[in-house]
Amino acid sequence: MTGVTGPSPAGVPIEPESLAGGLRLRSATLADVEQIADLSAIHHVPDGNPPDEDVRIFVREMLTRPNAQTSLADTLVIDDPATGAIAAKLVMLAHRWRYDGVPVGRGRVEYVTTAPAYRGRGLMTVLMDRYHAITAARGETVQVIKGIHNYYRQFGYEYALPDAPYRELPRDRLTPVGPGRDLRFRQATSADIPLLLELTRFGNRRWLVSADVTAEDWRHELEEMTDANAWRPIVTIVEEAGGRAIGAAYSLSRLIHDGLSTEWAELAEGVDWERVGPPLLDYLDTVGDGLHDRGRHFAIGAPNVAFSRHYLALGDGHPLMDLLEGRLEPMRTRKALYVRVADLPAFLRTIAPALERRLAASATHGDHTGDLRISLYKGGFRLGFALGHLAEVEPWTDVRTTRNDALFPGLTFLQLLFGHRSLTELEHAFADCRALNDPALELLNVLFPKRPSWVWPFF
Ligand SMILES: CC(C)(COP(=O)(O)OP(=O)(O)OC[C@H]1O[C@@H](n2cnc3c(N)ncnc32)[C@H](O)[C@@H]1OP(=O)(O)O)[C@@H](O)C(=O)NCCC(=O)NCCS
Repeated sequence: MTGVTGPSPAGVPIEPESLAGGLRLRSATLADVEQIADLSAIHHVPDGNPPDEDVRIFVREMLTRPNAQTSLADTLVIDDPATGAIAAKLVMLAHRWRYDGVPVGRGRVEYVTTAPAYRGRGLMTVLMDRYHAITAARGETVQVIKGIHNYYRQFGYEYALPDAPYRELPRDRLTPVGPGRDLRFRQATSADIPLLLELTRFGNRRWLVSADVTAEDWRHELEEMTDANAWRPIVTIVEEAGGRAIGAAYSLSRLIHDGLSTEWAELAEGVDWERVGPPLLDYLDTVGDGLHDRGRHFAIGAPNVAFSRHYLALGDGHPLMDLLEGRLEPMRTRKALYVRVADLPAFLRTIAPALERRLAASATHGDHTGDLRISLYKGGFRLGFALGHLAEVEPWTDVRTTRNDALFPGLTFLQLLFGHRSLTELEHAFADCRALNDPALELLNVLFPKRPSWVWPFF
């Protein structure tokens, strides 16, 4: 197919493919945008709800306005040429992540829908297979989805990347700091992009997995979404009285039910959260009041009720969360993103510099030499170390012998790899997950510590 006229900075349209029943798999075009937005608005809401107009606007803008993550060419559809109906679709998003500082390409799909009349015929399986072929060809070694329960397990995904939990801070637990403070707050403009990039990169040192955010990403967040787009953020800059910008925060511009959601906040190196945290929260409180007064709530599941809480999703171990601990509501559940790594040995070779750094930083394994044989029961791999370097990572086929060092059923190894669970937690949860000897236990704990991650929803 040629002649795609919509903005497609990242992708090239795929060759259309005929499917059984007269259906066709192809990249989307501008003519499909309203149908795609419609399918998303109607079918991505809890049962019994009207179409989500916020989702409709978001999807429409995502597909027609420039952004570095996706494009019409990267939206796969299965259509019925006889009727013009889109039977199924998904949106591919691409970005770079860092795994403990090492760049890794990652793909993501969102807005995955099959129209009701076409469900149960395997159409989404066809689209996911095609997506996996495309993402592999692009060299993206990790795929991630924030999707419906259980469904993506059939495609090789595991809940393995800890998602930044939303912590609730009721407004009545804020301590007003009063006038006379030495800080002021303003909305970010595109002139702040260098600062926002610097703060993002500085904050990312905290996380095992982080997003390699670019100036173009920040430009998109600040400029590209219209005021009607519920996901257009409010980006606040913190300045000292003298005018030096020392921090920033990213909040949603609609209230979720009775709360303002702040999803990112960072300070420049050397700036103290104890100094900035309380006045920043004071300021964000006025932002939430303003949104409430203007009736700016999300369309679905968010009636215009009094603004009474802050939702903070800054990530485990974020200094502001630590400062507020004790005032935050207890956390009920801890969520994780789905992750898929189709070629584990290749991924481990990519992140070898990070693994070698962990060995070097340990008191015991800096010059480690030897093999670590991991059985995944239906396959496995062998890590070969030489004087602290990861010299070899090879598929390990002899997995049913007694020569294994550790056992991981199913996809549980991904939970260890992405810092979601410690080895002890996995052994506790899965009776058939085991380190089989003490050296393997020690080495696995050095190589794969439990550690929080924070990735942007769409970057
Ligand atoms: C989920 C959805 C995309 C599946 O589309 P589909 O084209 O019917 O899927 P397929 O026919 O390829 O189904 C593949 C398998 O998944 C199973 N499946 C379908 N929906 C499922 C669900 N919600 N949870 C778990 N498994 C599910 C099917 O039974 C089928 O299994 P089988 O091969 O053993 O029969 C579709 O039901 C849908 O659009 N739902 C509403 C929107 C939504 O929730 N999208 C996902 C957002 S992340």
